[in-house]
Amino acid sequence: WETPDGKPFRQRLLVVANRLPVSAVRRGKESWSLEISAGGLVSALLGVKEFEARWIGWAGVNVPDEAGQRALTKALAEKRCIPVFLDEEIVHQYYNGYCNNILWPLFHYLGLPQEDRLATTRSFQSQFAAYVKANEMFAAVVNQHYQEGDVVWCHDYHLMFLPKCLKEHNSDMKVGWFLHTPFPSSEIHRTLPSRSKLLHAVLAADLVGFHTYDYARHFVSACTRILGLEGTPEGVEDQGRLTRVAAFPIGIDSDRFIRALEFSQVREHIRELKETFADRKVMLGVDRLDMIKGIPQKILAFEKFLEENPTWHDKVVLLQIAVPTRTDVPEYQKLTSQVHEIVGRINGRFGTLTAVPIHHLDRSLDFYALCALYAVTDVALVTSLRDGMNLVSYEFVACQDAKKGVLILSEFAGAAQSLGAGAILVNPWNITEVATSIGTALNMSAEEREKRHRHNFAHVTTHTAQEWAETFVSELNDTVVEAQQRTKQ
Ligand code: G6P
Repeated sequence: WETPDGKPFRQRLLVVANRLPVSAVRRGKESWSLEISAGGLVSALLGVKEFEARWIGWAGVNVPDEAGQRALTKALAEKRCIPVFLDEEIVHQYYNGYCNNILWPLFHYLGLPQEDRLATTRSFQSQFAAYVKANEMFAAVVNQHYQEGDVVWCHDYHLMFLPKCLKEHNSDMKVGWFLHTPFPSSEIHRTLPSRSKLLHAVLAADLVGFHTYDYARHFVSACTRILGLEGTPEGVEDQGRLTRVAAFPIGIDSDRFIRALEFSQVREHIRELKETFADRKVMLGVDRLDMIKGIPQKILAFEKFLEENPTWHDKVVLLQIAVPTRTDVPEYQKLTSQVHEIVGRINGRFGTLTAVPIHHLDRSLDFYALCALYAVTDVALVTSLRDGMNLVSYEFVACQDAKKGVLILSEFAGAAQSLGAGAILVNPWNITEVATSIGTALNMSAEEREKRHRHNFAHVTTHTAQEWAETFVSELNDTVVEAQQRTKQ
């Protein structure tokens, strides 16, 4: 496609996500500094040359004054970002409450909150009302910036109401919705008081995407069992209108990690780490400090391994990077104390005057330090209790072409479907099994490691984030064209 002046036509893509890909820090009344946060979605879309992407989302800060909002909007425009301003009360009820205290645990099979958890953020009803209101606020910003022909791509559990809000305003808008978490079995989804409203709202989209075929199947069966609609191989049909439902497994920008390993600062980090852990095998965990990541269970499994294998005591170290997240939600605060307590106990039990078995850090690492850590690791432990995909496992594999370390991976992470043949798959709830797998991984022969790594490396370098984004958007375009053709017939 070309524009009238002969330039290649680039379709505009409005990416709508709760969080913008930049974090904003206020420096003065009208001055802001912005930092790009390179999550999976950001790197996926940075690499996509075919579309002209703009981001719409919350900047993660409360900006009550107009002057501050104007200045931030202007600063963000340079990064092709458009802010949605949410006040503190909405953030509390919508983000801390409905999104992260209700939907997040439910979609990861941790159940609905009991009364005591609900009481901290008022009632379920007021949280749901705030959720709907927040989604309407996102829709208002999309409508303000939408131009005919744009593709609107809504992301994640924060914005399940958005497709409905957008289509009610303009039924011609091309709307896709993608879920980055698991979609649970319909038996779990049906416990949610607002179960039907959410499903109907998502079904307003033209295309609905998930990381795995299983999540897509769960969504379709929730629509058939809870709403009584017809599920077809293509998706869900409601009074002659089809919503396409399909799996689009995300990937990473693997080249970015592979290239980084050649940078001098990364090589320097690698040298330092090798020196520090010269006589030890390095095991690594990198997770947001979230209950779905199974950090306490992982550390208990490591303790069991040490208990049963005294010869390994001074020969292995577990580096656990636990990035603080959602720190206003009480469940996350409790988890932090729980993890600290377990780590303290194990280090007290197995540590010596000069070394401890677990190095636990409550913070994030910069990209270069992270790449170096991945590169020197012998065994990575990704033992989420549930996880939509888990890109840490992909990042580890991308940085391991020299070392060919072993990945221990939860069978409940979406990544198990793609990296299962190369990883050691475990049930993260079974601490004995994880402890045994640690032994298997540490003792694995070089040939076996090479064979497993080859499989995973080939997958990670060919199923990239860029390909994921391009496939979803072109499928969305095709879906809308097909629907128009059906209506004409
Ligand atoms: C998960 C979600 C994302 C979210 C991220 C960080 O990966 O799927 O939508 O942005 O966690 O969580 P936060 O609450 O800090 O945005």
